[in-house]
Amino acid sequence: MPANESVAWNDLQSHAYYMSQSHISTLFREETDRFSLYTFEQNKFLLDLSKQRITEETLALLIKLAEEKGLQQWIQKLFDGDHVNDSEDRPALHTALRTPADRILSINDKNIIDEVHSNLSRMEEIVERIHSGQWRGFTGHSIDTVVNIGVGGSDLGPFMACKALAENQADTAKSLKIHFVSSMDGSQLAELLSELNPARTLFVISSKSFTTIDTLANAQTAKEWLKKSSYAASEETLISRHFIGVSANPDKVCEWGIPKSNQLEFWDWTGGRYSMWSTIGLPIALKLGMSGFREFLNGAHEMDEHFRNAAFSENLPVLLAMAGIWNINFLNINAHAILPYDGRLSHIPAYLEQLEMESNGKSVDRQGNNVDYKTCPILWGEVGTNAQHAFYQLLHQGTEAVMCDFIVAARRYHDTNNPELQHQHQLNLANCLAQSRILALGDSVLEGAESAPAFKRYKGNQPCTTIMLDELNPFSFGQLIALYEHKVFVQSVIWDINPFDQWGVELGKKVATSLLDALGTERKQPDFDSSTNGLINRITERGE
Ligand code: F6P
Repeated sequence: MPANESVAWNDLQSHAYYMSQSHISTLFREETDRFSLYTFEQNKFLLDLSKQRITEETLALLIKLAEEKGLQQWIQKLFDGDHVNDSEDRPALHTALRTPADRILSINDKNIIDEVHSNLSRMEEIVERIHSGQWRGFTGHSIDTVVNIGVGGSDLGPFMACKALAENQADTAKSLKIHFVSSMDGSQLAELLSELNPARTLFVISSKSFTTIDTLANAQTAKEWLKKSSYAASEETLISRHFIGVSANPDKVCEWGIPKSNQLEFWDWTGGRYSMWSTIGLPIALKLGMSGFREFLNGAHEMDEHFRNAAFSENLPVLLAMAGIWNINFLNINAHAILPYDGRLSHIPAYLEQLEMESNGKSVDRQGNNVDYKTCPILWGEVGTNAQHAFYQLLHQGTEAVMCDFIVAARRYHDTNNPELQHQHQLNLANCLAQSRILALGDSVLEGAESAPAFKRYKGNQPCTTIMLDELNPFSFGQLIALYEHKVFVQSVIWDINPFDQWGVELGKKVATSLLDALGTERKQPDFDSSTNGLINRITERGE
């Protein structure tokens, strides 16, 4: 049955009819203890939904909707390795990647938890060889720079995590620089190569498919650069000393020239955007050391266990997801801002853009029907204090309703002797709390605001969630990312869509290939639409 024909959906629609007239400031006046009513906690990880436009009745109805949609059974299917990715006929087992070694999960008669842990051990060997200086470049010098070449899920997660957890860098990694290259046009790589010492640089070519043209083009440029910088060494030596391939397609990696001994594998049941827990996380392990990487996995595993076992009424991913469903499908809010109040989390908006929009940016349900309800909203974000000086104007006084996630750590710099930085953290916290307060409650927070001219008024009523970590560390960061992964899954269940495929990115790849002929040296006469023909002709003229 389509989601919007269920009993709970209809009840929610009637409930929304009068809730959409209400203001969050009124809800706070009516329920003075909203914080204790709508805040949920799991091992020092706090989810505050009190500034959402919800009541206890809203939550009860949302939980009823989740039950009607069979969420518990879907969670079971996800963890058990059922083929929840039906269009590609495979499981989505990112949760297995962070499951402790003493568990068993059989897929095709193999205990994949054993395989996961033997992969982690291989990763550990490589990390130790690099950290200890035993991995040598073609001149015999140790490696001091690692460049991860990948895109999408083979870039965004490790890039984000290395930035977020830089303060947790392993002592053994202190002299190692880690860079990320993703852009197809070569601009990142060109800039970087001019600063690198080829003898001490290791390239990690990360690609689940090992067919992604963006990554292969950057990898080829890196290979040629290395060959030019070291005429004396053979290509075989250069590749074996300076390239690691991380992929679920080992044959393609061999074809490219990287021998098995320099490969780290993972499995096709790991979705690209869910892959940083696998060997795709090599840069994270290089940054944190294996013990830090394992802590990161442990944090995610704890959130997995909570998601799997907690009642919906106190289940953080379920509640976060259902608050989103309420906003999107019943209050008609289709924009979502991700606002980390922590410079270390500057890359989380880009990461969540892929996680949420590539997973749930779909309009066809699992039965192949076009849905007639909204699915994933438009999502974007920025470090909150920077965004305050950029797009908050629209959040406060624009015409768009926007739901906002504030993400912040309660403690920072507490163990330093630096009062200036401690003060900066307090400033940051004050701004985080001030902004979510104004966005939700409007200028009702200010005495006499009603008498101000219209252009100075703040209408508020933008629903805000605050996610507060005790402190940002590998464990809590693992909890945070797993929270969002499961939130995305819960929403996909309500919308009855497959969050684990991404067919919408395929046509662009094909059309780009056909356009390459018109732009290449052969320059066939373009035969496309008049805009594309005109642009190609202009490029050709300019190129001559
Ligand atoms: O084109 C989209 C996509 O397939 C993403 O889903 C994926 O994360 C990215 O490209 C990179 O793919 P790969 O890891 O196979 O290079």
